[in-house]
Amino acid sequence: MRTVVLKGEDALKKGAELIASGEVVAFPTETVYGLGADAFNGEAVKKIFAAKGRPSDNPLIVHVADADGLEGLVSGIPEGARAVMEKFMPGPLTVIMKKSAKVPDSVTAGLDTVGIRMPSHPVARAFIRACGTPIAAPSANRSTHISPTSAEHVFEDMDGRIPLIIDGGECEVGIESTIIDMSTDVPTILRPGAITAEMFADVLGAVRTFKGKVVVAKAPGMKYKHYAPSCETVVALGTESAKTAYDEAEKQGKKPLIIASSRVCDALGERTRIDVGSTDEEICRNIYAALHKAEKIAGFIICEHFGDKGICGSVMNRVMKSAGGKTV
Ligand code: TXA
Ligand code: MG
Repeated sequence: MRTVVLKGEDALKKGAELIASGEVVAFPTETVYGLGADAFNGEAVKKIFAAKGRPSDNPLIVHVADADGLEGLVSGIPEGARAVMEKFMPGPLTVIMKKSAKVPDSVTAGLDTVGIRMPSHPVARAFIRACGTPIAAPSANRSTHISPTSAEHVFEDMDGRIPLIIDGGECEVGIESTIIDMSTDVPTILRPGAITAEMFADVLGAVRTFKGKVVVAKAPGMKYKHYAPSCETVVALGTESAKTAYDEAEKQGKKPLIIASSRVCDALGERTRIDVGSTDEEICRNIYAALHKAEKIAGFIICEHFGDKGICGSVMNRVMKSAGGKTV
């Protein structure tokens, strides 16, 4: 299969045609690129799993352009979910709710819940509108690889496996959406993201039925290996340990590279590095592109520990998985 990369109106038109004929299409969102199919077409959805090499027991998120798109997807919207959606949608958030019977089992992996996301990226919204149906989509990477934040990243993983990539430039947020489960009594963050636990506390604190407390737990998909670059990766707990690990790896001929914030880069001397910026938002936006680039030019990746709080905490959730939990 030839994989075409298109921009603009042509891309949307072609994309909508492919979705209508039961094909899969990669498209940009503000978090990462998604690999979409008609959420109500179980056979089309199966092609997503085939293209990614994704285990079929890992459910997909369903993308809508507006509140009307929720029609036929959920069996009801709990009060708290409504408040959370009003505050954070469109945006980098997925809300888990009880699903309607119309949603195929291939989307939800047989669960009685479905993840709903309303992206803010204008191309994502125009694409979903042009399709006229909700779009089921995981991140557009091969299963276990780093999520794509540009059309080039998608092409590297999906060339020959899908017919079309809609190019909408680089993703603004840079890591996958925060997932919050609103199908249970206590709202539960299943995957941290740019919308942090502290930010929910405001909304959910005011909604009495939610008992205020947000608990961090695991999404089913998290049991799989994730976000892995093609070479060994470790997290450095301090600048000195990053330098030591680098120098040792270099002696062993491993071609090391350090991914770090501007501040830490300034202290690295001549060592090969990728600077991911200064602010939490910049680090988040640049981290996957840095990992993609690093695996191409290096043999051993050392990534700074950016911190446990706020957005950096969410970034480290991904980087720790990239490193398989290994620290130096
Ligand atoms: O930002 C994002 O969320 C991107 C863009 C494309 O929207 N999508 C994305 O999808 O990251 P994916 O498939 O790579 O990650 C979805 C995660 C998986 O870990 C999956 O297990 C979890 O969401 N998930 C999906 N439906 C669920 C459900 N009903 N209950 C619990 N977890 C669910
Ligand atoms: Mg993914």
